[in-house]
Amino acid sequence: MNVLVTGAAGFVGFHLTRRLLEAGHTVTGIDNLNSYYTVSLKNARLVELGVDVNKIDYGQPINSTVYQQFEFIKLNLEDRERLPRIFECGQFDVVVNLAAQAGMRHSIEEPFSYIDSNIVGFTNILECCRHNQVKHLVYASSSSVYGSNTKVPFAETDRTDNPVNLYAATKRANELMASCYSALYNIPSTGLRFFTVYGPWGRADMAPMLFAKAIANGEPISVFNGGDVFRDFTYIDDIVDSLMLVIVKQPEPQPDGRRHQVYNVGCSSPVRLSDFIALLEDALGRKAEKQMLPMQPGDLYQTFADSSAFERDFGYRPQTPIAEGIKKFAEWFKWYNSQPTV
Ligand SMILES: NC(=O)c1ccc[n+]([C@@H]2O[C@H](COP(=O)([O-])OP(=O)(O)OC[C@H]3O[C@@H](n4cnc5c(N)ncnc54)[C@H](O)[C@@H]3O)[C@@H](O)[C@H]2O)c1
Repeated sequence: MNVLVTGAAGFVGFHLTRRLLEAGHTVTGIDNLNSYYTVSLKNARLVELGVDVNKIDYGQPINSTVYQQFEFIKLNLEDRERLPRIFECGQFDVVVNLAAQAGMRHSIEEPFSYIDSNIVGFTNILECCRHNQVKHLVYASSSSVYGSNTKVPFAETDRTDNPVNLYAATKRANELMASCYSALYNIPSTGLRFFTVYGPWGRADMAPMLFAKAIANGEPISVFNGGDVFRDFTYIDDIVDSLMLVIVKQPEPQPDGRRHQVYNVGCSSPVRLSDFIALLEDALGRKAEKQMLPMQPGDLYQTFADSSAFERDFGYRPQTPIAEGIKKFAEWFKWYNSQPTV
């Protein structure tokens, strides 16, 4: 298959790209390599994919030296001149849109970057799919669409009209936009609501990396609500397994004919933040210095996925136990943190 992965230098995009390439698919990866979190981590992921990061030039394809069927292009999703050309040349069977301005707290300070990447950029992706006979658009949504819902676990049938931050609102908007394009132009599309993804090569702005770095440097970690918040931590390999199953299966038509579906992809096993920290301390062999802070504006008390719809349709559910996932993350972190470029 010929696949476009946006956000290929990001956490999930990198892992998916590598898995697709190892399975023999042809992949074009795009990413604007923005500095929302440390660019050296994004570059290091690209190096793993065989990209000579010193040769990256905006808009110019660069071939991998490790994977013959991989090329990377530094590009903004919002680039309405170049993105259509990439689609025309690429003739992609499947598009996996993982590029986005992520992070809930950041949307309080930088609202426009969410509109640019997640709304304008996503519209550009939809338009390009519309004009290029893409067989399946798969895109990342988020557990944050459940907003201030208190009923758990969160099911796809629950209300999603009470977001508590702009990030969540843009992710919900993406689902509605994809559904609309599916109805108007018959573009089969599947949205995946990921729940707190963690693992090797994880994001520098998320708790596992922030905590691991602080613990390694003997610096304090910020613990919100006294550690009394719950997250449905989902291991990266489970996310990639799920994506690989979804990519090859177009959604069934809805009663009105549109081919659009949204699924939760989460471990369905929420972990208390204080327990997560204790597991990380054990795995790293060092205690954290904890700075207790109140809940932050736009934060959620808990996330908890009902994964039954995904399991029903794909015969799979994420299930890596948190202790096993943290152990693998900590092993990778110790290696990565010892590298000279970090
Ligand atoms: N990691 C999680 O826990 C989680 C949870 C729920 C949803 N998601 C969603 O999954 C997707 C992947 O998340 P991730 O953790 O890999 O995030 P990430 O930030 O590591 O990856 C996103 C990548 O997209 C790129 N990007 C951002 N805006 C862009 C733009 N306008 N044009 C081109 N590239 C752009 C960034 O440089 C980054 O490398 C995102 O859509 C995110 O919102 C992630």
